[in-house]
Amino acid sequence: MDNKAREERQKEQEEKINKILGRIKALPTLSLVVAKVIQVVSNPLTSASDLSNIITVDQALTAKVLRLANSAFYGFPFRIKNITQAVSILGFDTIRNLALTVSVYKVFTGEANTEFSHADFWKHCVGVAICSSLLAKKIKYRSPEGAFTAGLLHDIGKSFFDQYMHKEYKDTLAYARENKISIEEAEKEVIGVDHAVVGKLMAERWNLPHELKAGIARHHHPEEEKEESVMANIVFTANILCKKKGVGFSGDNIIKPISKEAREILALNDESEEKILTALERELKEAEAFINMPQ
Ligand SMILES: [Fe+2]
Ligand SMILES: [Fe+2]
Repeated sequence: MDNKAREERQKEQEEKINKILGRIKALPTLSLVVAKVIQVVSNPLTSASDLSNIITVDQALTAKVLRLANSAFYGFPFRIKNITQAVSILGFDTIRNLALTVSVYKVFTGEANTEFSHADFWKHCVGVAICSSLLAKKIKYRSPEGAFTAGLLHDIGKSFFDQYMHKEYKDTLAYARENKISIEEAEKEVIGVDHAVVGKLMAERWNLPHELKAGIARHHHPEEEKEESVMANIVFTANILCKKKGVGFSGDNIIKPISKEAREILALNDESEEKILTALERELKEAEAFINMPQ
């Protein structure tokens, strides 16, 4: 490529990135109710009834949260009848995450892409969520629920591309497949920015807590995360394990190695990795309600 061509290409990339930034700024905010839930859960003065009063304003959300709370995934031997009961049994963080799951799921739907099955992609996300929570519990991380949600949302930038740059993303996926490169490398080449960067901007747009943003933004490069490096390493490893295990499909079949640092942080050796994979398989069977989310 000569200088002029290189300059032109750079200008083209910059224009694309500016266009993406504009679209992210114009993204719909999370529902008011969910935004309020995120806010009150982080306030130590919030009571269980404050939280349930906020959720029950939205009937559809209430019904969906209850459906998940009563699913085999949590496996309670009795029926959780209302949100107040759900809050006291499952706790604030779980309720926040269920509300968030329900509301972001909408972002994952939309026109199907021939290169990319939404059902397989959502399954990958649910798999990474479960695996992140298993890894978090393994090392007694302070917030396994947060790890679940960060895992669920880690590839949300791909949903953005798929919905708002449908044609270009189709080309990107084909480019990754033809050149046998990872989807994030293809995104950088074709679009100019990868899904982790876009995910980070979306997390900022939605005022998600920092731990979630870190899990989303650094799931390919946990070594770049300083404040929430445990979270970043959890999601990074869960993503690789799900690809190894073939849970759903996320755009490419390239499996990168788990870094030495991640193995150290997660105390993960061959034997404990095997245990996590077995638990993942078992929990996935119980996660039907998450995999087949109602519209
Ligand atoms: Fe990713
Ligand atoms: Fe992924």
